[in-house]
Amino acid sequence: MSQTANAKLRLGVNIDHVATIRNARGGMHPDPVKAARLAAQAGADGITAHLREDRRHISDADIDRLMTEIDLPLNLEMAATEEMLAIALRHKPHACCLVPEKREEVTTEGGLDVAGGFAHLKPYVTRLAEAGSRVSLFIDPEPDQAGAAQRIGAAVVEFHTGAWCEAVIEANAPLMDKELARMQDAVMLAFDLGLEVHAGHGLTFDSVAPIAAMAQVRELNIGHFLIGEAIFGGLDSTIRRMRSLMERARSQALGRQSA
Ligand code: PXP
Repeated sequence: MSQTANAKLRLGVNIDHVATIRNARGGMHPDPVKAARLAAQAGADGITAHLREDRRHISDADIDRLMTEIDLPLNLEMAATEEMLAIALRHKPHACCLVPEKREEVTTEGGLDVAGGFAHLKPYVTRLAEAGSRVSLFIDPEPDQAGAAQRIGAAVVEFHTGAWCEAVIEANAPLMDKELARMQDAVMLAFDLGLEVHAGHGLTFDSVAPIAAMAQVRELNIGHFLIGEAIFGGLDSTIRRMRSLMERARSQALGRQSA
């Protein structure tokens, strides 16, 4: 399917860390499904949840409820394992994003090595796609990974924005320029290869605009910052502010292009 640059930029809200807080005490509160409902009301276009092998935040029951109680499309982040594949094939979520997973990591530290893990990943991509899910691969903004994602048959790539966000936190201007150029090149290449382009990891109010301004990016997935910031500003207004920063950045970039 041909794609259009500048198409609407979607926001997927990742609710994992509502479950992190719930699990700190056990029990039911706060409920990630309630957060998903509030995110929908605040204008999220989708809900993202990562069912990790160690179930440190989202649980199997959360996925059941997100599938049945929430109208927004679910983007299920998952490792390429037989256990996760069976769960995904049972639920058939709108999208499945394959991510690398290590038990000892605090969060998803880097992208998938699609080029190096081609033979392992290929059957997962094929079986998920055959079940009707849009398959997305979470990769670093590197040309060989984008090329491998296209050859393996993924519909979508999600570029890991962690290095860009770290450069913003450090206020390291040369590194910011370098990471933004690396992201822009990877985004252009993936788009030209016919992949739908998403991005995410570590994005905040301070780092979202230059990524949102890239006309070929169709979706941002944001979690940790939104849930953390919601402690101070409330989930509804935090999501609305993120959306408005995304929309402003995109329309300013469009204005610059047409001027
Ligand atoms: N996209 C993917 C593939 C992820 O693994 C994560 C983290 O779970 C995110 C986006 C969201 O990252 P963050 O929680 O840092 O916003």
